[in-house]
Amino acid sequence: MKRIAIFASGSGSNAEKIIKYFASNAEVEISLVVSNKADAFVLERARKYNIDTKLISGKKELKSLAFAEFLQDKHIDLIVLAGFLLLIPSLLISYFPKRIINVHPALLPKYGGKGMYGMHVHKAVVLNKETESGITVHYVNARYDEGQHILQASCELTPTDTAEAVAKKVQKLEHLYFPIAIEQVLGE
Ligand code: GAR
Repeated sequence: MKRIAIFASGSGSNAEKIIKYFASNAEVEISLVVSNKADAFVLERARKYNIDTKLISGKKELKSLAFAEFLQDKHIDLIVLAGFLLLIPSLLISYFPKRIINVHPALLPKYGGKGMYGMHVHKAVVLNKETESGITVHYVNARYDEGQHILQASCELTPTDTAEAVAKKVQKLEHLYFPIAIEQVLGE
């Protein structure tokens, strides 16, 4: 049995896709959903599927030994960041080497780094008149969006696409490919 912890700060549409994708897989369990936001909709989604949730207070708790040990005690094999906006501290990375992955809503190395998340990314893409965007699933290291790539998928953009339109196209790719990338990593 492989145990996944999903970390998310917001709506959790990706988290829900992942939960549904693995629901019929007896070898994989979504054991935990972690959030740093008490009102994040992802917590409601998790409860709907009877998945344990953990609310962390912020950066300090994320960095703590107690939190790393809590995850270890739960026998978590893989941490999946699905719209989690805090930087992952090196302590956690040392507890889960090559066992933390993230989805980023752009074709890295473009449009990555601190502050580049969600709609900020799509607005910058439109502003720069990009003709394509997409997603990057990557391993997490101690710097925002710089870990080794696992998968990229792209979509074409038209000159009339607004940031919202780009967000929709990118979200479609995330929902389709992120669970597949997770399955691939679990098999490694
Ligand atoms: C996703 O588009 C994800 O790529 C992005 O947050 C969104 C979360 O949506 N993550 C980042 O921008 C990280 N830099 P969701 O809560 O509906 O899954």
